[in-house]
Amino acid sequence: MLELRITTSDEWTQHVLANFDEFLVDHAACERKASATGLSFVVKYPDKSKLHEPLISLAREELSHFHQVYKLIAARGLSLRPDTKDPYIAGLLSKARNGRDTHLLDRLLIFAVVEARGIERFGLIAKGIKDVPLQKFYGDIVRSESRHATLFLELASLYFSTKDISCRINELLDIESDIVQNLPVRAALH
Ligand SMILES: [Fe+2]
Ligand SMILES: [Fe+2]
Repeated sequence: MLELRITTSDEWTQHVLANFDEFLVDHAACERKASATGLSFVVKYPDKSKLHEPLISLAREELSHFHQVYKLIAARGLSLRPDTKDPYIAGLLSKARNGRDTHLLDRLLIFAVVEARGIERFGLIAKGIKDVPLQKFYGDIVRSESRHATLFLELASLYFSTKDISCRINELLDIESDIVQNLPVRAALH
């Protein structure tokens, strides 16, 4: 499992819990994008067949999370919002190096880090939220998401050396902690 360099601030958790409707709408967008990300690897790398089955499964799982969050949103009379750029994801992806294989390595490792941060933050919500059905919902999300960070690392290890992976993941973990510390606190996953 990946060890993030910094833990999320209590301020983030409190802000999210106090603006939960806004958070839910962002959470839906994150799940939809996570599903699309899984499929994007399949589309961009038709020759890397070992990625396909696991990432099609991941895309389906993330899509089912999107559907579940969508139902929560609809039940509260909220609506989806137009797509916006996630500054955290955009910041990380801007660090993906060029070169077909290097770019693949970086994207797999970036999403391992993104999943690890998601697991941490969903866990904070599961712990902090008072509403019992939502407590259970976020507990289930954490269990379901808990394999994803490791999955991206395992997929990287199918095509890249342990040395290349450990060197780059260390750099990306440093980059991630800088990004997290420089982002304003929002009622959003990132
Ligand atoms: Fe998910
Ligand atoms: Fe995930």
